[in-house]
Amino acid sequence: MTRNDTIGHDRRDFLRLAGLGLGSMALVARPAGARAQGTTAPLKIGSIGAGRMGSALGALFVKAGYPVMFSSRHPESLKDLAKSLGPLAQAGTVDQAVAFGDVIVMVVPYSALEEIGKAQGRALAAKPLLLDICNPIARRDGAELVKWVDENGGAGLASAKLLPGSRIVRAFNAISYRKVGSDAHRPGTLVGVPIAGDDPKAIGIAEGIIRAMGFDPVLIGGLAMGKHLVPGTPLAEEHSAAEIRQIAATLR
Ligand SMILES: NC(=O)c1ccc[n+]([C@@H]2O[C@H](COP(=O)([O-])OP(=O)(O)OC[C@H]3O[C@@H](n4cnc5c(N)ncnc54)[C@H](OP(=O)(O)O)[C@@H]3O)[C@@H](O)[C@H]2O)c1
Repeated sequence: MTRNDTIGHDRRDFLRLAGLGLGSMALVARPAGARAQGTTAPLKIGSIGAGRMGSALGALFVKAGYPVMFSSRHPESLKDLAKSLGPLAQAGTVDQAVAFGDVIVMVVPYSALEEIGKAQGRALAAKPLLLDICNPIARRDGAELVKWVDENGGAGLASAKLLPGSRIVRAFNAISYRKVGSDAHRPGTLVGVPIAGDDPKAIGIAEGIIRAMGFDPVLIGGLAMGKHLVPGTPLAEEHSAAEIRQIAATLR
C-alpha cells in the first residue's frame, strides 16, 4: 500500500460517488470547514455505545461539526452527556441511533456484537460505513470469544461475521479514551490513525471523518489486517502516519 494509494481514496471516492449521484455523501465527509461554505449538510453519526471510548470519540465528532446520536441499552443515562456537548448531540435508543446515522460508529464490548448484529444487521448493512472501534478482550469478553475471533481471522474479519454485510472500517482501536481528546489536532505532526477495511467508499468516508477530527488516517490494508488493530500490538498507541506506514509494512 503506497502513500498515494491511501491519499487518493477521498478524491477517487468523491468522483465516483458524484458519478453515481451520491456526491453529497462524499462531500459531507469533509471537515466542518466545508460545511461552513453552505455546500451541504454534514454526515449524521449514530453511535452504538457511549461509554468511555464512545463518549470521547463522540465529543470529537461534535467538535468537528457532525450531528451525533449516542445510544446504548440505557439511553436515559446518556442525556447528560448529550446535553454537555451542545445542540449537535442527542441521546436515543439503539434503534433510533441506527435510523439517525448516515454512518454508524460501533463502540461496545466485543461480546455485544453478536446480539447487535442479530437485531440490527439488515439496517447496518444498508449504511455506507460502520466504523468498528471494538476489541475482543479476554478479561471482559471471555476467553472463548477471543479464541473464536482468532480462529476467524482476527478482529476485522470476525466483526464482519458478526455484522454480515456491513461496510466495516476498523479505526481508533488502540488509542486510549483518556488520550484521544488531547491527541486530536496535535500541533506539529498529527497523530496517525491506522485503519483497515475492504470497501473503498466506506474507507473514503472514514478517512474524511478522521481528518475532520484532527488525525491523519492511514489505510494499512483490507479488513483482514484489522487483526493488527487491537491494543498491545506494534500499531497501538500514538504514531505519526509515517511511523504507521513503516510498522504496517512489516505486518502480514
Ligand atoms: N476504553 C478505551 O480506551 C478504548 C480504546 C479503543 C477501543 N476501545 C473499545 O471500544 C469498545 C468500548 O469500550 P469502552 O471502554 O468505551 O467500554 P464502556 O465504557 O464499558 O462502554 C461500553 C458502552 O457500550 C454500551 N453497550 C454495552 N452492551 C451493549 C449492547 N448490547 N447494546 C448497546 N449498547 C451496549 C454500554 O452501555 P449500556 O451498558 O448502557 O448498554 C456503554 O455505553 C470496546 O470494544 C473496547 O475494546 C476502548
